[in-house]
Amino acid sequence: MLMGMAGKELVVGLLKKEGVDGKLVESVLEVPPDSSLGDFGFPCFVLSKEWKKSPQEIASELAGKLKVGKGVREVKAVGPYVNFFLEVDLVSESVLKDVWKKKERYGAGGKKKGKVMVEYSQPNTHKEFHVGHLRNVALGSSLIKIMRFDGKEVIAANYINDTGAHVAKCLWYLMKKGTKPVGNKGEWLGKVYVEATQELEKDDSFKGEVSDVLQRLEAHEKEMDALWKETRQWSLDAFNDVYGWLGVEFDVWFYDHEMIEGAKKFVEKLEKKGIAKESEGAIIVDLENEGLHTLVVGKSDGTIPYISKDFALASIKFEKFMIEENVYVVGSEQELHFRQLFKILELFGFKNAKRCFHLSYDLVMLPEGKMSSRLGNVVLFSDLKNELMDSLKGEVEKRHDWPAKRVDSVAKDIAVGALMFGMLCQDHQKSIVFDLKEWLNFEGETGPYVQYAHARLRSVLRKAKKKVGAGVDFSLLSEGVELELVKLLELFPSKVDEAASSRRPSLIARYCLDVAQKANDFYHRVPVLKAEKKLMEARLLLVWATAQVLCNGLSLLGIVALDEM
Ligand code: ARG
Repeated sequence: MLMGMAGKELVVGLLKKEGVDGKLVESVLEVPPDSSLGDFGFPCFVLSKEWKKSPQEIASELAGKLKVGKGVREVKAVGPYVNFFLEVDLVSESVLKDVWKKKERYGAGGKKKGKVMVEYSQPNTHKEFHVGHLRNVALGSSLIKIMRFDGKEVIAANYINDTGAHVAKCLWYLMKKGTKPVGNKGEWLGKVYVEATQELEKDDSFKGEVSDVLQRLEAHEKEMDALWKETRQWSLDAFNDVYGWLGVEFDVWFYDHEMIEGAKKFVEKLEKKGIAKESEGAIIVDLENEGLHTLVVGKSDGTIPYISKDFALASIKFEKFMIEENVYVVGSEQELHFRQLFKILELFGFKNAKRCFHLSYDLVMLPEGKMSSRLGNVVLFSDLKNELMDSLKGEVEKRHDWPAKRVDSVAKDIAVGALMFGMLCQDHQKSIVFDLKEWLNFEGETGPYVQYAHARLRSVLRKAKKKVGAGVDFSLLSEGVELELVKLLELFPSKVDEAASSRRPSLIARYCLDVAQKANDFYHRVPVLKAEKKLMEARLLLVWATAQVLCNGLSLLGIVALDEM
């Protein structure tokens, strides 16, 4: 699958001579996970029925008979596998030629069937947008890029929570105080929300005032509606600033306030189907037998719970967008919510309900502990952006005499690189510590480190002042570190495939780090520009291919591969 055709054909040819069906070999031939096991592995289970022997016996029998020869330097039985080791130059040739041919498409998968929707970010208007929310943005946007590169059709969706109790609290306090916004209006509003929740704790009678605001909001009272529209827009503008700066995009935007009618209808249908029932004025679904508790889907005061809006949203996704796979990137605190939701969608009878998936990620912590609006220790997005830009612009200016515009743009690419990589290099099921100093370290396991490794390779290519080409003597690439680098590059397509199907962008981040480390290792150990001409040509091709693969990998994480930094 991975290796260029030449190597695979050789193996198929050898096995054919021993009477094994060529088509069968092609369809089952594997690339061992560890290169010390060889370049290809043939699993002998597929023959054991026909040959009436155990796979182990077949493996050793075949390995004994197969003749090594042109291109194949060793054949070995390992358990039920026959493993093949190719001549190293054959490996380098097929991998590097493959990168050369495909360039920015190297690693991409073939077109795959089935439309997927990935819903991510989903912020609440009238609330703060902080670094915790960035983890979601990084995961969702990267997953979409990976799945698309792997050949899937993916719709990127956002779902804005713009109604409900949190909006009422914020507007209640805003009216009560009569204050006017300063600076970034969306962030200012988020701060008002935090103050509102603190104020609410002081006096119980405030609760009544807030629920009054909520009712007036839901009744679309004119004055209230106007205030809602105006303030909601402040938040949306602030979100769009974040998305624009990070370079992430959405194909569709859903809003909570659009789901109210659909939610009511859906709940009625649930009742008709006998899935939901009335209980003490409310409408409930009993999922006790599934171990998912009993939940309210229609409140006695007529307001719509969060989950019921999700019924309406899922119906739109399945019926209007005709999606087959439905991914929600949402924090792990909502695991129960999504299990309940998916169960009800299944009971309702949506054909693809089983293909709903909650990509559940863990918290972003600060070095000093948990982030909390109440404690006032959240890192707001605009503060973060300003701090990053200030320090990085200084760094870039120290090294280059560039016009301000270029300094700005490179500083921004490094800032985004640091954030995205920091958010993605850890598996999403584990918590991460947001430590800006560490994330910016050019020598750590960071975005800037990988970007720098790429820039260094590009600088070698610039200095060579020579056209790179694929017509080189591949047998000259014989140093251990060169072969290891080639082997890593060879893995990229299968990494993409694995990251897409297991929905784990962290695999790509770790992979980029491995390539960057190996590239640096190579750079320090092996001369390129000072090597003899033929050798230099071969090494330049390797340098070029490594830069290309890093660039492809980084772009899947939403990170710009800079030429100079
Ligand atoms: N806005 C919600 C929150 O902050 C997340 C929405 C997740 N998506 C969904 N379809 N329920 O908690």
